[in-house]
Amino acid sequence: MLYRKLGTSKLEVSEIGFGCWAIGGWMWGTADDKESTKAIHAALDLGINFFDTADIYGHGHSEKILADALGKKRKEVIIATKGGAYFENKKICVNLSAEYIKKAVDSSLKHLRTDYIDIYQPHWPDTNTPLEETFRALNECVAQGKIRYIGVSNFDLNQLSESMKYSKIISHQPPLNFLKRDYEVAVIPYCYKENIGVVTCSPLAKGLLTGKYNPDAFLSDMTRSSDPLFRGDTFKRSLAIVERLKKNAAESHKTVAQLAIAWVLSHPAISSAICGARNHHQVKENVGAVGWQLSQKQMSKIEIILATTV
Ligand SMILES: NC(=O)c1ccc[n+]([C@@H]2O[C@H](COP(=O)([O-])OP(=O)(O)OC[C@H]3O[C@@H](n4cnc5c(N)ncnc54)[C@H](OP(=O)(O)O)[C@@H]3O)[C@@H](O)[C@H]2O)c1
Repeated sequence: MLYRKLGTSKLEVSEIGFGCWAIGGWMWGTADDKESTKAIHAALDLGINFFDTADIYGHGHSEKILADALGKKRKEVIIATKGGAYFENKKICVNLSAEYIKKAVDSSLKHLRTDYIDIYQPHWPDTNTPLEETFRALNECVAQGKIRYIGVSNFDLNQLSESMKYSKIISHQPPLNFLKRDYEVAVIPYCYKENIGVVTCSPLAKGLLTGKYNPDAFLSDMTRSSDPLFRGDTFKRSLAIVERLKKNAAESHKTVAQLAIAWVLSHPAISSAICGARNHHQVKENVGAVGWQLSQKQMSKIEIILATTV
C-alpha cells in the first residue's frame, strides 16, 4: 500500500480507502455481514487505513459493522463519517442545523463505539442553514475532542470556499470517475491550490466500471436501479466505454477496475480513492491498482475513448 498526506492535517491515508456504503445494506439490497467483515479484515491486511462511512448508510448499520470488524484496531485507522442526511417519506433530506449535526455526531460516536471521529463531513450541503451555524457546531465538537478534523462532501466551489472562513477544512469528498467528471472543472483544482485533501468517492461508478455488467443486467438494489447511469442510452454508452477500456487495461495486464482506480489516483490533488467493496475478492482486486502510474500515452488513449464512444 502507498499512503498520501491528507491536506494540511497530520493524517496519512492509504491511496485506496474502504467505502462502507454498500456494507450497510438497505439501499444496496441485503448486506452479508460476515462477508463485509472479511472484506474489512482483508483491507486491514492489505494496508488500508482509511475507512469512510456515514450515519445514513443502512441507518447506522454500516458504522456498527465497521466498529465490530475493526475491534481493537480502531486506534490504528482513520475513520471518516458523514452526517446531516436522512431518509424521510422515501426521500433523502438534509439538515445541517447546529442542533441536528451535534446530535448526529453523538449518534455516530455511539454506533462506531469510539470516543473520537477522525474526520467528520457534512454529507450534503443544506441551503436552509447558514454554513456559519453548521461549522460553529462542528468547531465545538472539535474543541470537545469528539472530532479530530472537519471535511466536507458534495460541496460546490462557493460552499467550500465559504466553509473555509468558519473552520479548518482538511478534506473534500466529491465523486470522480471516468463517467462523472464535473468536480474536475473547478472544485478539485481549487482543493489542490488550497491544499485540501481530496478523497474521491465512487471511483468505480458503483461497480459499472468493473466490467461485470451487460445491457440486460437486472438491477435489484435501489442505489443502482435509481441511478440514470444505469439506464437507457447512458448505460449502453458506458458499457461500450468499459469494453474499450478493458482492452486498454489488458495491455498492462490489469483489469478495467484497476485502470479506473489508477486514473483517479493519477490526479495530483487526490489523496485517496474510496472504493466500496462487498467482499475480500473485490478489495484485493482494487488494491492491485496501487503503484500503477499511467503513462502520458495511456492517459491520452483514455481521453480519446471517453470522447469518441457514442
Ligand atoms: N459523499 C457521498 O455522497 C458519497 C457518494 C457515494 C459514495 N460515497 C463513498 O464512496 C464509497 C465508494 O463509492 P460507491 O460505493 O458508490 O461506489 P464504487 O466504489 O464506485 O463501487 C463500489 C461497488 O462496486 C462493486 N465492486 C467494487 N469492487 C469491485 C470489483 N473489483 N469487481 C466487481 N465489483 C466490484 C461492489 O458492489 P457489488 O458487489 O454490489 O456490485 C461495490 O460495493 C462509498 O462506499 C462511500 O463510502 C460517498
